[in-house]
Amino acid sequence: MKNISTPLLNWYSHYKRDLPWRHTKDPYKIWLCEIIMQQTRVAQGLAYYNKFVERFPSPSALAKASEDEVLKLWQGLGYYSRARNLHAAAKSMKGKFPSTYEGVRALKGVGDYTAAAICSIAYNMPYAVVDGNVYRVLSRVFGIDTPIDSTEGKKQFAQLAQEQLDQKHASDYNQAIMDFGATVCTPQTPQCAGCPLSKQCIARRDNRAEELPVKEKKTKISTRYFHYIYAVQGDFIYLHKRGAGDIWQNLYELPLIETPTEEKPKVAWLKGAKLAEAGTLKHVLSHQVIYGTIYKVQLPPSVKLPSEFIKIKSADLKKYAIPRLVQKLLANIKKI
Ligand code: ADE
Repeated sequence: MKNISTPLLNWYSHYKRDLPWRHTKDPYKIWLCEIIMQQTRVAQGLAYYNKFVERFPSPSALAKASEDEVLKLWQGLGYYSRARNLHAAAKSMKGKFPSTYEGVRALKGVGDYTAAAICSIAYNMPYAVVDGNVYRVLSRVFGIDTPIDSTEGKKQFAQLAQEQLDQKHASDYNQAIMDFGATVCTPQTPQCAGCPLSKQCIARRDNRAEELPVKEKKTKISTRYFHYIYAVQGDFIYLHKRGAGDIWQNLYELPLIETPTEEKPKVAWLKGAKLAEAGTLKHVLSHQVIYGTIYKVQLPPSVKLPSEFIKIKSADLKKYAIPRLVQKLLANIKKI
């Protein structure tokens, strides 16, 4: 069996990225970092990590905050269920971060990857992480084309990752393979020249690095049309707090009308009002593409909106956690 841990650890000792959470063994901070870093580039995640650690230096500080405040600080990162889970998990800790793998794995929002990352990085426990980087490095070096999203593939890669783990250096080994995947063994144009694993790499030998890893299913993308209404009534505008059941749960947005195709929005309370269209943006999420359009409308004082909408002073808008798409569209309102 090939051993990739020694060259990876050696590579890591020279080329590891200097990241703030690499200067701590505090499991709470490592947990924050891991949740923030999921599907976020390091450059963007860094600023959020620093803000969170500063505002919430301990599990109890986070537990005491309101959900609105946590969502506000998270604003712009997307995947807001992560922020809600983070807050719920902090509340469940009763001031102390769990010290066992089982305790960590039981936290809301913590799956196999995050539990392995926290326990290895903070406690040096021998749990191998398996994330997108690990799938890529292992599938290439070992020349495995079992789809990574199949039951068999998940099992096979988890087992291989565990076999390759350097048990005594779990923290460094896991971070080494992730950094290596992020900076050398990249999805496109990997840096094979000078790669410390190139001599053992099957994908390199067969010249098929970019074909690996293999995925079984293509993600199905749906297209949606959102119309946001910036409804002005004197010094006031209207917001809506999104309910349960989607990625923007509990965030605030402008009154929204969704249409099945690209068409003008119609609702009773807008009847007769003149809609001034102020721009459209395409917002790409993992499973959907949203075309968001914003309109400004002046409402006469007599118009009453349905009770699901809250009336706020327009100057207070900045206090609310708002999806990034709405934020970007709002920038257009000032221009008309
Ligand atoms: N991506 C997410 N967490 C990471 C970590 N701790 N090291 C390297 N890449 C990561």
